[in-house]
Amino acid sequence: MVVLTKNKKTELILESTTLWDFPTQNYGDKPHGDNKFNGVTPAFVIWNLLQRYTKPNDLVVDPMCGSGTTIDVAKELSLRVIGYDIAPYRKDIIQNDARKIPLHSNTVDFVFIDSPYSDNVKYSDHSKCIGKIPCTDEKFFMELEKVAKEIRRILKPEKYMAWLIGDHWRKNTSYIPVGFKVYEMLSKFFKPVDVICVVRRNQTSNTGLWHKRAREFNFYLRGFKYLFIMQKTNQEES
Ligand SMILES: C[S@@+](CC[C@H](N)C(=O)[O-])C[C@H]1O[C@@H](n2cnc3c(N)ncnc32)[C@H](O)[C@@H]1O
Repeated sequence: MVVLTKNKKTELILESTTLWDFPTQNYGDKPHGDNKFNGVTPAFVIWNLLQRYTKPNDLVVDPMCGSGTTIDVAKELSLRVIGYDIAPYRKDIIQNDARKIPLHSNTVDFVFIDSPYSDNVKYSDHSKCIGKIPCTDEKFFMELEKVAKEIRRILKPEKYMAWLIGDHWRKNTSYIPVGFKVYEMLSKFFKPVDVICVVRRNQTSNTGLWHKRAREFNFYLRGFKYLFIMQKTNQEES
């Protein structure tokens, strides 16, 4: 939640419900990630999570950190942070495939990940980008499962991770409940803590024409993403 104080400065307040709706991608005077990056995460999402699940000097990892939003938010909060991506967008992002993270087991305090949720966005030309696999193909979920296993491995016991993901609808393939499928997969490795609904804004389909089409042709535009908050316990969950 963002409020304007008397002197017109923005103040961030911790979210208290499971519905998060942020008007802009960024907060404050400095950029957090790049709001021109296709698929950038709202910086408030990461800010809220880090406030709740980390303490100063903790190690935060984002295995698919895109334009670096997690790095920027974490550094401002005096956290140690490592951001990986298959196609690094800036110099402080380490090139790596999220299916094999080069960190020792049980060493990380918090993981945030905003993964592709089908092949709807072109992130890069890299052949190992999971965003090249359509979610209509079971392989998509198998590859995300490899990432989930790595996240579980690197997290310290009892620590938390959060995974942002959206559902998929296309005229030719209809609805794929990507969120439910990923939740089910994650529940094998983690204890579910909560599910947040993050309102989607600033997407290319948020135009009068698309809203008209949705009404006329009887379909829905995607209005939210799921944010799954999960905890690593000592045993696998199922
Ligand atoms: C939704 S974007 C992340 C956005 C980011 N949180 C931000 O705020 O800019 C998903 C990212 O996953 C990356 N990615 C896709 N497949 C990957 C893989 N196998 N390993 C690591 N990163 C991958 C893409 O390159 C893309 O940058």
